Amino acid sequence: MTGTDHIFKDREKISHRFIPPNLPHREEQINSLKSLFFKSLENPSNAHLQVAQIVGEVGSGKTVTSLHFGKMIQLEAEKRGVSLKHIYLNPKVHGSSRITLYRYLVRNAAPEVFSQSLSAEELLTELVSYLQANDTYILITFDEVDYYVKHSKDSIYDLTRLNEISPGRPVGVIGVIFAARSTDFHDKLDRAELSTLGNFPIMFPSYNPEQLHDILQERVKDGFQDGVITSDVLEYIADMASAPPVSGDVRYALSVLFYAGNLALSTGSERITIDIVRNVANATHPSITDEDILNLSKKGRISLLALVRALRDSRSAYSSLRDVRSICGIICEEYGLKPFDDIEEHIQDLADRDIIDIKSLTKIGISGVPTDTLAQYLNGLNDKIKKELKGAKEI
Ligand SMILES: Nc1ncnc2c1ncn2[C@@H]1O[C@H](COP(=O)(O)OP(=O)(O)OP(=O)(O)O)[C@@H](O)[C@H]1O
Ligand SMILES: [Mg+2]
Repeated sequence: MTGTDHIFKDREKISHRFIPPNLPHREEQINSLKSLFFKSLENPSNAHLQVAQIVGEVGSGKTVTSLHFGKMIQLEAEKRGVSLKHIYLNPKVHGSSRITLYRYLVRNAAPEVFSQSLSAEELLTELVSYLQANDTYILITFDEVDYYVKHSKDSIYDLTRLNEISPGRPVGVIGVIFAARSTDFHDKLDRAELSTLGNFPIMFPSYNPEQLHDILQERVKDGFQDGVITSDVLEYIADMASAPPVSGDVRYALSVLFYAGNLALSTGSERITIDIVRNVANATHPSITDEDILNLSKKGRISLLALVRALRDSRSAYSSLRDVRSICGIICEEYGLKPFDDIEEHIQDLADRDIIDIKSLTKIGISGVPTDTLAQYLNGLNDKIKKELKGAKEI
């Protein structure tokens, strides 16, 4: 148990990274995945690769459901004496080019055959030979495929057609689950690629207030001390998080709960009140989450920090690339870092991640934050990025 005090019973249970043992209101989606992949466990050496897509808005439970399902299928395989591993790939975290992702895949699925000198195609061939030779199987989740297709422009074709590496003999990859926020990325695929994806995505509809309330109640039960959060406060958060612009994002609701708990603690409040929640909600806009910031490289964080400062200075909803670049130089100096000249690339990456909005080179902003709360939001964001900058990956 971590972080026990008079407010929190276990902070970890409120964290968005925690994978709860139960996922209310996602039973149907889990059953669809089960019916698609569990039958491969009956006779895995004859099982052909199945492709699934899961599609839903921000915070609708795609990642957590795929991780949960990954655990489930590993357990089921174990029961049946099948050696199967679920591999979770996320281009926002593990690298957004084909080669970095496949390296990550092979390093995790077949470390014995991994070599830095292999090309992307060779990595997949080695992986398949390894799986076949060892009678072992994997299921891949490819999260944020929409970002990957937009940003890297690399194809996903070879993953959907792994079967063709060894015609006539199953390749040991029982399936690939692609997760995306919408099906818009289909427009960027060619017809052949699209047809390998299958026609029917498993949809993750955004949660309504009642569903959000159920989900939060489960998390709160184990995360907060009894009585710290009353039902009306939880209802207030569920209502707020299910209305636009948040529209059912559980991650947002959890981060409001988490920061509200911290504020209650630091102000010596006995419990989390509606006032505390309101206060926190103003500074916690959903468009940029802590996770978004954590996933950025050091240069990515500096570029975002530069935009935040440029927006604060400009006192308008937009800033120009020129201003962002010059502030970026100042920040590098402040932190004793070497200035970098590929800021355009990092700004583009932030836009591909849907963190910022590029209307034109003179109009760069942060989408979805109302102008009246922008200043307070930017201050909070400024502090968060500065805090995270120290531990950033050097990419
Ligand atoms: N049904 C649920 N029960 C419990 N927790 C949930 C449920 N759905 C989502 N969550 C929690 O909400 C947060 C966001 O969920 P998740 O990361 O899976 O969303 P996502 O659909 O992958 O969003 P994004 O498109 O932004 O990646 C996570 O902390 C997750 O644990
Ligand atoms: Mg996700």
